[in-house]
Amino acid sequence: MPNRPYVVLSVAASIDGYIDDNNPERLYLSNEADFDRVDEVRAGVDAVLIGANTIRRDNPKLRIKSQERRDRRLAAGLPELPFKVTISSKADLDPESNFFTAEDVEKLVYVPTSAVDTARDRLGEIATIVGAGDPLDLEAVLADLSNRGVSRLMVEGGGHIHTLFLTAELVDEIHLAVAPFFVGDSAAPRLVVDGEFPQDFRHRMHLAEVQQIGDIALLRYLLKEATGA
Ligand SMILES: NC(=O)c1ccc[n+]([C@@H]2O[C@H](COP(=O)([O-])OP(=O)(O)OC[C@H]3O[C@@H](n4cnc5c(N)ncnc54)[C@H](OP(=O)(O)O)[C@@H]3O)[C@@H](O)[C@H]2O)c1
Repeated sequence: MPNRPYVVLSVAASIDGYIDDNNPERLYLSNEADFDRVDEVRAGVDAVLIGANTIRRDNPKLRIKSQERRDRRLAAGLPELPFKVTISSKADLDPESNFFTAEDVEKLVYVPTSAVDTARDRLGEIATIVGAGDPLDLEAVLADLSNRGVSRLMVEGGGHIHTLFLTAELVDEIHLAVAPFFVGDSAAPRLVVDGEFPQDFRHRMHLAEVQQIGDIALLRYLLKEATGA
């Protein structure tokens, strides 16, 4: 599928593979230096995509914190911030959430085509609603992003969105920050949900980089260079 952006999946997980705990407050897995690294990765992409449930649970702003990085983008002729993108079946989202209200930047909400009218009724003018097939077709989402000038996309969770992208073989690179603790609660969200992953034990990913960032271990995997059995 040539008409799609390069996709980087960026996630922080506990040693036992959880990306949150089961409490209502957001669990921060990374340390300050690693959050700064993520800021740099964001500064290098055209769009950041998260699942609708991450908007509801974490209410992230998806901004670039560093003004210097924002200035660098502007100097390169890019928008100051990457587009914010989400995927939802019905756009049952709070229009006051930070995804929509923080920062003056393009916001795109991809929904199944049959849900476009409902989504527009819910969200009005605060975001661009795009129908992407029935059921929603992830390749159509990526082709549309590509047509809007997105050549590099950062996918930032949560577990259902990771699974959607990985099982569709639409991830080029994974950045996995491993936090030095356990969550140990099977009711908590995991890195992925059940699915058939092309990168199974017979198709191991290529480990391109290991970096220590304080108490975080950053692992960078390339998926298209799987090493085979
Ligand atoms: N540690 C990290 O790096 C990190 C990063 C991000 C998130 N998280 C955590 O991840 C958790 C949330 O993950 P999650 O798995 O529950 O949710 P999620 O992946 O953020 O979002 C799932 C939602 O995406 C929409 N969706 C997914 N596939 C779709 C499809 N094929 N068609 C239409 N819509 C689709 C649906 O939205 P609707 O329900 O609106 O239909 C679905 O409920 C939170 O606890 C958050 O803290 C952790």
